[in-house]
Amino acid sequence: MNRLIISGLFAALVVSLPRWLPRAVVALRGRIFVWVNGEDGIAAPGPQIPIEEFKQVYGHPAANGRSRGAALSDLFWYWLAPGPQVHQEHLEPGARYDDVARTTRQILAGLSYSQWTELVSRCTRGVLDDLGADRIHSVRLRDLMMPIWAEVYFELVFRQRCPRSVRELITGNADDVVSSIKCTALRHLDRRARLTDYLRERLVTEPPPVPLPTSLSVWEQAYYLQGTFFNTAVVQMSEGMAHLLLAIATDQRVQRRLLTDPADDDYLDRVIDETLWHYPLFGVAHRITTGAIPRADGRAAIPPGSVLLFDYPGYQQGDATHRFDPDRWLAPESKPPHYIPFGMTTNRPCPARGFAALTMRVAAREVLRRYRLESSAEHTRSLPNRGPCLLISRAHHTSDRRRSARLAFMRQRDRWETVPRSIVQLVLGSYMVWDARRKQLCRNYFADMP
Ligand code: HEM
Repeated sequence: MNRLIISGLFAALVVSLPRWLPRAVVALRGRIFVWVNGEDGIAAPGPQIPIEEFKQVYGHPAANGRSRGAALSDLFWYWLAPGPQVHQEHLEPGARYDDVARTTRQILAGLSYSQWTELVSRCTRGVLDDLGADRIHSVRLRDLMMPIWAEVYFELVFRQRCPRSVRELITGNADDVVSSIKCTALRHLDRRARLTDYLRERLVTEPPPVPLPTSLSVWEQAYYLQGTFFNTAVVQMSEGMAHLLLAIATDQRVQRRLLTDPADDDYLDRVIDETLWHYPLFGVAHRITTGAIPRADGRAAIPPGSVLLFDYPGYQQGDATHRFDPDRWLAPESKPPHYIPFGMTTNRPCPARGFAALTMRVAAREVLRRYRLESSAEHTRSLPNRGPCLLISRAHHTSDRRRSARLAFMRQRDRWETVPRSIVQLVLGSYMVWDARRKQLCRNYFADMP
């Protein structure tokens, strides 16, 4: 009898694993990160910086330090290596930052709206053509999107079509960086080095039309392109598109409206806003204060050298859960009061903010022109499952039974994949935090500087 009860309890424990284990592991991982990195950050919104002061503090000119003086910079430098010291996101304010940021703006301004549209729709069509003529494709949206943005950003930088072999170098690098940041895999520096070697060689033989900062050595120029255009741009656009398409795949009401009126760009723009509001690409953006930030009501100023942690989901959504409703953006009363998808315009905002949404719209239209999307996978902000989705050809009829069977299989697979994956994330995440702390890439870099 006892054995029967124990077996029953054990079976219940195993069956319930997907429900509680991933959440428990995320909480434990958070505690390990805090334990290793120290608790020296000030959370915003939080007890010291209430939500009403979030923008004023984030947008303050003294909230502009990026790397020096924060223990967690060692971890970011570790994830972004090689070349984190010239990655625009992690450069300290000063002449070098200005040089790099100006070059990024110049490269991004190189195409008109119609050229962006032509480029993105051509690259999207090419990647979708490669899928072949099956009636249903089972894909991971992030993986499907990466080659598109690799081709787009290569062509933007070099003004030549991206060779297939270089596309593989770029996606290999971007996938490696984003997988290690999400702790689903360790870093593979050999994969990253292959792209650096290619770029280094290319800069000598066939440099891009926009001159790169002369204050950087050729190696540093290669690291700069790799970090900003072949990592950040490719990863952010692929993740943003994976969220957008997954949101469409899991809300048939929204999808029907998009398919019924393919010319209604305003509606698609609202779907994009709603997506970036629910699933901001940044979890926490950190800053190190380079001067004091004064406070109202006689409260003490935030001192220089403080590490500020700007929590995007906490700021945009708060604790409440909201249904996916693109029409909330129609009226000023229903529009969310807190929405900063591309950061603060007054303090190191995203340089791609002028056309990231436009290019997402173009790529989404190309996908929806060919396929209906369906997914039964979980949609979370960190998207460790890379967005499982069925692309169902709109040119053929597909039986409901076949579709339902594949969705049922996807639901179970997605549910059970979370168990080993969350354990992998816990183990690899803890290892990388420890290894980054040991290597101290950021601290060593600044150690000899005045
Ligand atoms: C949907 C797509 C994108 C979203 C939602 C997004 C979001 C953001 C946000 C919120 C920030 C500010 C973070 C902070 O305050 O620390 C940022 C910064 C940045 N983004 Fe984007 N981004 C996107 C696409 C891109 C693309 C395509 C590029 C390509 C060049 C890019 C390059 C950068 C860079 C270089 C920074 C750092 C700016 C600085 O510190 O000067 N992003 N992005």
